[in-house]
Amino acid sequence: MGKPRIAMTAVSEFRPGLEGVPATLSSISFVDGQRGVLEYRGISIEQLAQQSSFLETAYLLIWGHLPTQQELTEFEHEIRYHRRIKFRIRDMMKCFPDSGHPMDALQASAAALGLFYSRRALDDPEYIRAAVVRLLAKIPTMVAAFQLIRKGNDPIQPRDELDYAANFLYMLTEREPDPVAARIFDICLTLHAEHTINASTFSAMVTASTLTDPYAVVASAVGTLAGPLHGGANEEVLDMLEAIGSVENVEPYLDHCIATKTRIMGFGHRVYKVKDPRAVILQNLAEQLFDIFGHDPYYEIAVAVEKAAAERLSHKGIYPNVDFYSGLVYRKLGIPSDLFTPVFAIARVAGWLAHWKEQLNENRIFRPTQIYTGSHNLDYTPIADRDLAIESD
Ligand code: COA
Repeated sequence: MGKPRIAMTAVSEFRPGLEGVPATLSSISFVDGQRGVLEYRGISIEQLAQQSSFLETAYLLIWGHLPTQQELTEFEHEIRYHRRIKFRIRDMMKCFPDSGHPMDALQASAAALGLFYSRRALDDPEYIRAAVVRLLAKIPTMVAAFQLIRKGNDPIQPRDELDYAANFLYMLTEREPDPVAARIFDICLTLHAEHTINASTFSAMVTASTLTDPYAVVASAVGTLAGPLHGGANEEVLDMLEAIGSVENVEPYLDHCIATKTRIMGFGHRVYKVKDPRAVILQNLAEQLFDIFGHDPYYEIAVAVEKAAAERLSHKGIYPNVDFYSGLVYRKLGIPSDLFTPVFAIARVAGWLAHWKEQLNENRIFRPTQIYTGSHNLDYTPIADRDLAIESD
């Protein structure tokens, strides 16, 4: 099958946020926001969540095909082998303030990997593979290490016999991970692994297009994900459910939000105009967790919010997005709320690396244009005359 023919159109109209402006050709993922469809490399997110694992999905995203058993075994083995981080990186993290945000710690640590491993051999497939393996392997270790360090403890070493998700939960909580909890966490990682050209992925692509090293690519994407308009809404969903406090308060709370034009957290999406397919799966995972590990009273409130919001906002296409139920899942897994966005980053590294690799295949540096709105032909005012110049303005 040949490449699709793409009509090249001249865009002279300015669109804030580049809304609707195609920034690349990509075969990595696909979203249909009207039908609630998300596919990675053509495979539905529902099938991947049910049948795949995060590392197999990462392989699919990055190399474009499902691995054979041998390819997957080798990939998982390499990642296990590279999970440890240099003691210098651990020591660097010990100098970070305990009160610092874990996303800032992660951005600095991801960039620091470049000090050890950057060769910029971007045309060498072995270098590409080693960078993919190192980033997927070490980012969870760095997130868990900062959590223990800020609690005053030494980070604990990864355990080779545990799989990717179980090992992260072990390093974070210092407890033996429950296999069902680990499997549910692994599905969460699959659900968050990729989502077309969102802000952090675009940031990764722009950075990649300069042909810098992959550690800088991931560090720039982590910085972009950290902003409250991108990662982090799931943390705010929990705050909202706490503020609502009981099912009886749901309707008055929503009516107040609508009257005061306050956003309901975990609702609405630029692309999806129906319930986000990831929210459907996450709600199901939350119910499975509550059945096994005990109920969460916030869940009834969340379900009541979804029902009341549907009655009031469905005509605008506003439904639960990926963040609405994920916080409840993470809370039950024992993940502190300010680690929700770093956990998002652990998953999204797969998508960022897939786009990095795709960008390198047909690279052209990103260099958009602008519409200049400033002045022309002004005279330089010597500094001694400037107050006067302002007064006489
Ligand atoms: N609660 C209430 N109303 C909402 C809403 C929400 N969460 N999200 C959008 N709307 C309303 C807006 O008020 C607007 O109504 P109007 O046309 O009457 O003025 C309309 O829907 C369109 O909103 P707009 O801001 O243009 O949508 P967007 O595509 O730019 O924004 C989000 C998308 C995700 C930023 C937005 O839905 C939002 O802020 N959601 C809450 C935060 C969140 O959950 N973020 C995680 C996203 S995965």
